[in-house]
Amino acid sequence: MDMQAVLDRIHDEAQPLLGQGRVASYIPELAKVPLQRFGMAVSMLDGRLYTVGDAREDFSIQSVSKLFSLTLAFQLVGDALWERVGREPSGTAFNSLVQLETEQGKPRNPFLNAGALVVTDVLSTRFVQPEMALVEFLRRLSGNAGLQYDDAVARSELATGSRNRAMGHFMHSFGNLKNPVDAVIEAYCRHCAIRMNCVDLARAVGFLANGGVSPVGGEQVLDASSAKRLSALMLTCGTYDAAGDFAYRVGIPAKSGVGGGIVAHIPRTLGVCVWSPRLEHTGNSLAGSFALERFTSLIGQSLF
Ligand code: DON
Repeated sequence: MDMQAVLDRIHDEAQPLLGQGRVASYIPELAKVPLQRFGMAVSMLDGRLYTVGDAREDFSIQSVSKLFSLTLAFQLVGDALWERVGREPSGTAFNSLVQLETEQGKPRNPFLNAGALVVTDVLSTRFVQPEMALVEFLRRLSGNAGLQYDDAVARSELATGSRNRAMGHFMHSFGNLKNPVDAVIEAYCRHCAIRMNCVDLARAVGFLANGGVSPVGGEQVLDASSAKRLSALMLTCGTYDAAGDFAYRVGIPAKSGVGGGIVAHIPRTLGVCVWSPRLEHTGNSLAGSFALERFTSLIGQSLF
């Protein structure tokens, strides 16, 4: 199979979609990104790299960060995490508050904003600078020592993030947030504001395809069983209320963000990232979802 030809074809096929969908504007700074963008990178576990389009242009990873903050928290506390966060798809939007009251402040899964706040709380208990713990982790996983978070995006979200703050205080009232809410929210916004590109993220997700070992630096990030478990969560919860449809169309574990990035992997084979800023109504990149659907179809590989 000619992987470069597959990416070139997907790039061509995606062009008519680049004008469709809406960029996230509830974080004002995110609405400033150039819209007509499409990039994709595939990082094989043996190190071969394939790219197309804007694969080296940095973007705001937003909720893609939740995959990596979860990995760090799972390293720290293991299964004890599930006493504070569930493992079920929510059937609600990523920023919904409705289940938190009936479920006593325990978010359905770690990829919802509420779940990621609990994860960030775990990191805040362990690290003096939880934002830099995640940045440094991603530098190691991607092999890009220059990664940083974008302070303007973090501030923009901090200035407008009443909804996440509400969730934080609500969970605090149930005892499910241990650190001061404002500090957790600040670290969370900085996690979301990390800037990476498709190449960085395709490399960074490789450990999940590789039995928990980073193909970039050889670091044993997780044991193979834990890597399997986090990948299963990506499949069932990684694209929010679209996760069922996404699994049906694409058939591999994926995690999306409202910056338009989607990171995914094919176990034992490759890491992949696609980026295009315009989103469909569930908050997943419209052209990105299409691209991954075409990708698994054209290469004839997926979980199934
Ligand atoms: O907390 C928020 O709403 C954003 N910082 C991240 C949301 C997000 O990316 C959801 N993903 N599709």
